Amino acid sequence: MMKTYHLTNTQPDIEQASAILRDGGLVAMPTETVYGLAANALDGEAVRRIFEAKGRPMDNPLIVHVAEFSDIERLRLVSEIPEKAIKLAQAFWPGPLTIIMPKGEVIPDEVSAGLSTVAIRIPSHPDAQRLLKTSGLALAAPSANTSGKPSPTTAQHVIDDMEGRIEAVIDGGSCSVGVESTVITLAADTPRILRPGLITREEIEAVIGAIEVDHAVLHQLENNEKASSPGMKYKHYAPRTRVVLLRGSDERYITYMNRLYARDPHIAAMCYDEDKPQLDMPCITIGGMDDEKAQAKTLFDALRAVDDLEDVNAVYAHCPEATGVGMALYNRLIRAAAFEVIDLPEKRIIGLTGQTGAGKSEAARLLAECGFPIVSADEAARLAVEDSEVKAMLCASFGNVLLPDGSLDRRRVAQIAFSSPENTETLNAITHPKISEIMLAQAEKINGDTVVFDASQLFEARQDVFCYRIVGVLADPELRAERIMRRDGLSTEEAERRMSVQLSEEFFIAHCDDILYNNGSAEAFFDAVRQYGERWCADEQKI
Ligand code: TXA
Ligand code: MG
Repeated sequence: MMKTYHLTNTQPDIEQASAILRDGGLVAMPTETVYGLAANALDGEAVRRIFEAKGRPMDNPLIVHVAEFSDIERLRLVSEIPEKAIKLAQAFWPGPLTIIMPKGEVIPDEVSAGLSTVAIRIPSHPDAQRLLKTSGLALAAPSANTSGKPSPTTAQHVIDDMEGRIEAVIDGGSCSVGVESTVITLAADTPRILRPGLITREEIEAVIGAIEVDHAVLHQLENNEKASSPGMKYKHYAPRTRVVLLRGSDERYITYMNRLYARDPHIAAMCYDEDKPQLDMPCITIGGMDDEKAQAKTLFDALRAVDDLEDVNAVYAHCPEATGVGMALYNRLIRAAAFEVIDLPEKRIIGLTGQTGAGKSEAARLLAECGFPIVSADEAARLAVEDSEVKAMLCASFGNVLLPDGSLDRRRVAQIAFSSPENTETLNAITHPKISEIMLAQAEKINGDTVVFDASQLFEARQDVFCYRIVGVLADPELRAERIMRRDGLSTEEAERRMSVQLSEEFFIAHCDDILYNNGSAEAFFDAVRQYGERWCADEQKI
């Protein structure tokens, strides 16, 4: 391990840092975006050490930083300065914009990773400016994090990652922008954003006209797709803890999170300030809902804080809109989440569930009469088992369970699945996700804001998290046993066995928002269900 000097941003320390850089050493410097790990850009050997310190793949090129525009020509960093680069420079430099241009011969292969272009930026941070001017160098500098981790926005972040691997870090406080610069290439026919940042597409278009946003900014690269910016193909910004993005309205985010937490105490939220008072679980906040700049400034610190949470297996982040500065936030978060995104339903889903024999199906029929669209889990289950992937998985687990015509041998599946609790669980693990997918898709197609999920296994299939409201239909065990014996012609033992594998009354009471008891007369139950339905029809928004 080498000694890493912790320098201040005073002139003597800046001079020491400059000397280190001129000697081929590495210095982490503050910029307005994130901390950069700098080396003399024209010294291939020094640049190579940046890749070693970060553990960065050599095919990912670096940004060259200079103090002022005239340095680009003076040092012959590019072979040509496009007209649009001059316009962009006037509008946004010094500042958080990186422009890719055809490279000059002096650029070492280590910097450009063998490409014919080079990325240039003039940072506005006073400490970066002084270091560039004092050293007189062009500085190649990627973000000063270990490759794959969130970029550093404080000197402490840099020290956490780089202590003992670099010669020095200059402490310039926390970075004001917080996400890396917008990267735009002028080497393509139409200028194209390769990485979104604080300077937005809209702001750039106001200066140079229409531009494109590279597909990889918002989407995962397909296996055979080539990255226009090599940095986009790597796992990025990722905490060790699993991060999942939830895309949907504020209201759906809150209900999803609280229901999930009721089931799984090992989750946390990454959310806006306004969400926090409504959430039951530990929260990492990233700023006010409408303050995208504050969110950008906080994001990487928040992602680093994820791994400090104790006893948390997954963090669910409230997904930003991918427009304006939100595009930069979305771009970083979706990589932190390794592209794991859950789309929350737009509809208000009322989950209707309950114990066998309690009268749930009767309630569903009555609610349909009240005008509620019903999505039936039983019907979705029938469709799910005809899905080819589901059939393949069932065969893989239970042997060949297909009939000669290729359809599923349902009786055989039922026989195997209910022969042991393990087999039942296997069946559910295979079919439940597909059933939920079908039900959610059906719900979105229905007109109106509210739909009822008629689902006896609402909780087992984890559909509860999508529900805005959950109503459980319960009844005394003797009554339920009597009803299912009569309905399905079961013996007392069979009825008891079926009832014993169900969730307890306590569970329903704890996890449902409303309970409808069906212990009295049929008329009384019908009235209760109708009242419940009418309350929803008339008063949907208030509940
Ligand atoms: O705000 C920033 O840009 C910070 C500070 C330190 O200036 N730097 C930074 O560097 O974020 P880095 O290396 O972490 O990200 C540079 C990105 C990478 O995605 C890289 O692939 C891309 O820019 N890039 C660099 N040169 C390129 C080129 N010639 N063609 C295409 N992409 C390039
Ligand atoms: Mg980086």
